[in-house]
Amino acid sequence: MVEVAPLGLLRLGVNIDHVATVRNARGGDTPDPIRAAKLAENAGADGITAHLREDRRHITDRDIEGLMNTLTVPLNFEMAATDEMQAIALRHKPHAVCLVPEKREERTTEGGLEVAREENRLAHFIAPLADVGCRVSIFIAADRRQIEAAARIGAPVIELHTGAYCDAHAEGRFEERDKELERLREMSAFAHTLGLEVHAGHGLTFDTVKPVAAFPEVMELNIGHFLVGEAIFSGLDSAIRWMRSTMDDARREAFGTGVA
Ligand code: PXP
Repeated sequence: MVEVAPLGLLRLGVNIDHVATVRNARGGDTPDPIRAAKLAENAGADGITAHLREDRRHITDRDIEGLMNTLTVPLNFEMAATDEMQAIALRHKPHAVCLVPEKREERTTEGGLEVAREENRLAHFIAPLADVGCRVSIFIAADRRQIEAAARIGAPVIELHTGAYCDAHAEGRFEERDKELERLREMSAFAHTLGLEVHAGHGLTFDTVKPVAAFPEVMELNIGHFLVGEAIFSGLDSAIRWMRSTMDDARREAFGTGVA
């Protein structure tokens, strides 16, 4: 039987990239992603996620430094598997490093990392990060081959890409959405049997979060774009609190009461 994470253990990582996107649209200092991160902490975020892209289109090097100096919750530093990013991660030693694929021309992180194709390189790439104490996670599609490869290279954590599931929901392709959800469910369970800690994220909203939050193996959800958008209407604090309680409801409904 799958060991069920107690309710309180489903962590919410708030991704603040798009606070920086809005700031950078005018080139000034506001809105400040560090302020957003502090607010997220107070609203119940268990961690802050930030992606330093190669083109610095949202988060900047200074933001990472500011986050490292200010946060009391762990920073999940998302980055491409490049030498430049590895050096930055080794300098800051964030709690977690999530390796993501990156293409300059994409609007967002479109797919998962092709771990199976570059197993050797990635195994060598993550070793020094693990040596300095970073918990390395690999952002991958819900694909058996990629999960097996992630386990083989010694990554302790995978993050499953929920984008295909969320897109299918948003576009009303419900049969496909349900298939994607089933794939995510099966692959979460499979990854868990290999000893991997399972996280999930990308494109999650109030409407799509519950089924994923109810997977017993999922320990952390990373959510950003929707929360920053929702903040325009209800405020960031309220958006995060609502997401947190929706996740907790899903957990409670799936596993009954008896967990905090
Ligand atoms: N997880 C990973 C690995 C990501 O790359 C992203 C987007 O940067 C997210 C989660 C959050 O996705 P979204 O902003 O769509 O909620």
